[in-house]
Amino acid sequence: FICILNSCNSSESDKEKISIGFSQSVDDDIWRTSMNHAMEVETSLHPEASLTIYNANRQPKKQIRDIEKFIENKVDIIIVSPFESDSIVPVIEKAKSKGIPVIVVDRKVNTSNYTAYLGADNIEVGRIAGKHIVSLSKGHANVIQIYGDLTTSPGLERSLGFKQVVKQYPGIKVFDLDSDDFGHPKPNYVKLLDSLPNIDYVYAFNDLIAYNAWKIAKGKGLENKIKFIGVDGLNGPFGGIQFVKDKILEATVLYPTGGSESIRLALRIANQEIVPKNNKLNTILIDSLNADIMSNQFDKITIQQSDIEQQQK
Ligand code: AHR
Repeated sequence: FICILNSCNSSESDKEKISIGFSQSVDDDIWRTSMNHAMEVETSLHPEASLTIYNANRQPKKQIRDIEKFIENKVDIIIVSPFESDSIVPVIEKAKSKGIPVIVVDRKVNTSNYTAYLGADNIEVGRIAGKHIVSLSKGHANVIQIYGDLTTSPGLERSLGFKQVVKQYPGIKVFDLDSDDFGHPKPNYVKLLDSLPNIDYVYAFNDLIAYNAWKIAKGKGLENKIKFIGVDGLNGPFGGIQFVKDKILEATVLYPTGGSESIRLALRIANQEIVPKNNKLNTILIDSLNADIMSNQFDKITIQQSDIEQQQK
């Protein structure tokens, strides 16, 4: 039993089920729609569970209201993928104080008063990207690092890990471009390739940012001179693995959504199992050597055409 957004008709028998409320932070993002989809698929494999997804549409206040609603409706467990790290803390603590376990996925929150955290290590993600550039360039390259939102833990940590590695190589010069909110470019973005003509690599904080940068480079005939490295490595027609296969990206670093894992974790918690507080998902470099193997590893995630068009606007 799955219901999305605020429309949900639960039957008598659903009241017996383990009710999971998921608060998603962003709707116009294929990584997040893939996360929702993975949760729905995983829930459908567990007839004893029901899932309700509310989408906050990038509005921190709406995310707080959504979680309030889960508390009022007395769901058995809440999963939250936070938009902001601070504003969400009181409502997470409120849920905990009412006895509702809370799983935090992806972005971290500024409290330890939740039940479990699940996500890949973003410092490791940044290090993997840094090591790949060091190895390809033999320690000599001009690199643009295009941030996703630096106020989020993935943004900060992807930069931290990357810089930890490349700072050991004086021949690598890094230029930071804080002009993107995980695939939503700000106006100065387009200037990036004008201002720095000798770019060898772009390290972007997700595959969509990398793809947008590639499109700019292509417009200038520079797409074969610059190598683009992204993060996420989604499978499917508009995912990072396909970009690697199409030679748009040199590589991407896998950042699993954690959709199915968080549902499985929620059910373990609901069944009174003791689970680790930190649940780390694996990450790996995906380049032309393993792109085929990696895409065969995943279940195909169908990305709706409308999602893609949404992101292109
Ligand atoms: O917060 C993490 C990021 O959010 C994912 O890497 C990204 O693609 C999504 O927008």
